[in-house]
Amino acid sequence: MAGLDSRSQQLYRRAREVIPGGVNSPVRNYSPYPLFVASAKGAKFRTADSQEYLDYCMAYGALLDGHANPEIIEAVEEALEKGSIYGQPTEMEVELAELIASLMPSMEMVRLVNSGTEATMHAIRLARGFTGKKKVLKFEGGFHGSHDSVLVKAGSGATLLGSPSSEGVPSEVAKNTLVSRFNDEQITGKIIRDHENELAAVIVEPVLGNIGPILPKRGFLETLRKVTEENDVLLMFDEVITGFRLSLGGAQEYYKIRPDLTILGKALGGGLPLSAFGGRRDIMEKLSPLGPVYQAGTYSGNPVSVSAALATLQSLRKRAGQVYSRLEKMGDKMRRGIGDHLESARVIAQVNGLGSMFQLFFTDRPVTDYHSAKSADIGKYEKYFHSLLASRVFIPPSQFEASFLSTAHNEDELQTTLDAIGTAVKTLPR
Ligand SMILES: Cc1ncc(COP(=O)(O)O)c(C=O)c1O
Repeated sequence: MAGLDSRSQQLYRRAREVIPGGVNSPVRNYSPYPLFVASAKGAKFRTADSQEYLDYCMAYGALLDGHANPEIIEAVEEALEKGSIYGQPTEMEVELAELIASLMPSMEMVRLVNSGTEATMHAIRLARGFTGKKKVLKFEGGFHGSHDSVLVKAGSGATLLGSPSSEGVPSEVAKNTLVSRFNDEQITGKIIRDHENELAAVIVEPVLGNIGPILPKRGFLETLRKVTEENDVLLMFDEVITGFRLSLGGAQEYYKIRPDLTILGKALGGGLPLSAFGGRRDIMEKLSPLGPVYQAGTYSGNPVSVSAALATLQSLRKRAGQVYSRLEKMGDKMRRGIGDHLESARVIAQVNGLGSMFQLFFTDRPVTDYHSAKSADIGKYEKYFHSLLASRVFIPPSQFEASFLSTAHNEDELQTTLDAIGTAVKTLPR
């Protein structure tokens, strides 16, 4: 960690005067002050104090090919020179939508937006407009951005109706969101059946990513697909993290489930702000200007972000044969290596993950849902985080996030990281 009068610390002091908490997204704030980044390349970033860190946050999963990827820089530079926004359609948008539809066949039609929050908000409105039903069902621990319908937690007592998880979210809105338990087929099936007449959609991260990676149990997603179909409820996969990360065709390809609607973001933009939602043609045709469900955006489909997304997907399509097996191998090495270090330090923790995602939870319970994740000792995680930071390895500061590998990470960097993890876990109380 940089010294007392580091540039990061000075910037943090300045930032707090004009930016709430000094950061533009709350997860970026950690104790005693966040590192301020000056530049990044590949698997590393350089701070305002010219110190280099190995990065496993990768902008919370946005950077599948690492920082400052030359192919993306070239595409963006070329686009910028031709004008950054027209407020008119472009050929590139058509190409991108066609490419997304070819990689994820459930997305017969696609609409581009700027952020995952926007995409889930619009997809939920669309689901309500299409079905004429008001309620949506989400899962505890699932995160779908920061708008009113999804900033909702399980209500207290016997009620399934959600309650706001943030001040400012009206309870009238939150009660239209039902909350179930991830990986619990029975409860979820019952909620869907009991509410079929008012439930528009189920929104789910097929692999929970925002509480650390939590994998779906065998059969869970299949049951969701079956029960939603039987009860005329739309199934919406939020693949903002898993899309193009778990496989080229996302979690839906990996688990062979065809959702009605899909939300993409993060990796799609290759580091530029771009998200998308899409799905069945009959549903998507309800969107304005074709249909009665309104959705719009000035920067939607802007040529700069679209050029980055096109470069990303075209490159991934060419390299898919190596990219995903290599990420899986690197992920396995990290998960196994962390497990070995925990065992030799006799520290009890769970190592979760899949493909390029990994996380450890300091708990003796297998982490399969929100409640088991919340049994983790966050004080231990904080120590672990700071110990890695001292070794110049940056992971997400919160226990309830996933760490991400990118194709820019190499074997030596993984080994250095595992050595740092070995040192970190040795210092933890057993
Ligand atoms: C699964 C999921 N959905 C939606 C979002 C919201 O995306 P954004 O931060 O681009 O608004 C996130 C962000 O972390 C996410 O992980």
